[in-house]
Amino acid sequence: MNFAAITPERLPDLLRAMPKTELHMHIEGSLEPELIFALAQRNKVRLRYQSVEELRAAYAFTNLQSFLDIYYAGASVLQQPQDFYDMAWAYFLRAKADNVVHAEIFFDPQTHTARKVSMRTVITGLHRACVDAQSQLGISSSLILCFLRHLSEDEAFDTFEKAFPFRDKFIGVGLDSSERGHPPEKFERVFKRAAQFGFKLVAHAGEEGPPAYIWSALDVLHAQRIDHGVQAIHDTALMARLAKERIPLTVCPLSNQKLCVFPDLSYHNVGQMLDQGLSVMLNSDDPAYFGGYLNDNYLQTFAALNLNAQHAYQLASNSFEASFVSSEQKAVWREQLDACFAKFGA
Ligand code: ADE
Ligand code: ZN
Repeated sequence: MNFAAITPERLPDLLRAMPKTELHMHIEGSLEPELIFALAQRNKVRLRYQSVEELRAAYAFTNLQSFLDIYYAGASVLQQPQDFYDMAWAYFLRAKADNVVHAEIFFDPQTHTARKVSMRTVITGLHRACVDAQSQLGISSSLILCFLRHLSEDEAFDTFEKAFPFRDKFIGVGLDSSERGHPPEKFERVFKRAAQFGFKLVAHAGEEGPPAYIWSALDVLHAQRIDHGVQAIHDTALMARLAKERIPLTVCPLSNQKLCVFPDLSYHNVGQMLDQGLSVMLNSDDPAYFGGYLNDNYLQTFAALNLNAQHAYQLASNSFEASFVSSEQKAVWREQLDACFAKFGA
């Protein structure tokens, strides 16, 4: 592949056009303020904010917790299966516009079951949108159930049990919410149980928390992917292991910027990680809150870090490699990626 043939001016169009997967996106984090207000009206929920503008103005975060407080409040408007469907469908339309060919989507059932919204309501609404995304948009997808780590492991077990009757509608379990003070070890037994039933395992680690949390996500939870993982940069032995074992890190640059993990995108370490051979790719995390969907992450990160066409190819290729699909499907996407690069002159 002749990457040098792609000039910097053509790079933004290439980034938009190239096929890619999205592996780290919380569906509740795709809830745009306009939809929050529409659903609040539909379900007669009172909001603390008077207008879309006032709500959007509150999206000035200083760390992960300051975001989570407002994110859980926003999710309170979701009550009926159709609400979950509408939220997911809106995401799929944005994903289609960004040439996302496949999405592995997180959902936080405890945020909803705590409000007496049933597991059936949550999963059936989301799953129906996934089915329609395949048939109407040609986007494949799967759901990953996340346990909230600020709650207890007993509550995670209870959640897993409630979701079990719907086990054909999600492929894996993850771990999210407030990281510091809630190490992966807290969830060792529930991850072991999920693994026994063949679920895929992922975990947020090293977003704000220390490299030790990445080690234990790998060695105690047996996570197959690390969500975020950007703090690995402070641990040479960990970086070497991540590179050698090609353990994917689902990196989210605009999220890291908005939650002050880095002062701004020009300080982000995803370029260094790529250059050190780690399996990283870009993701939007909570696009409605962090100022952009997947292509915004690609475009802004490339501009801030001066990345090139070879980096773009590697990121898209990693996004296929790290997904939970068959090797045959990955080969199909790689051919599409090569064709896209060839069209741009590589
Ligand atoms: N839930 C939604 N977004 C999250 C993030 N970036 N980190 C942890 N939990 C989350
Ligand atoms: Zn996340």
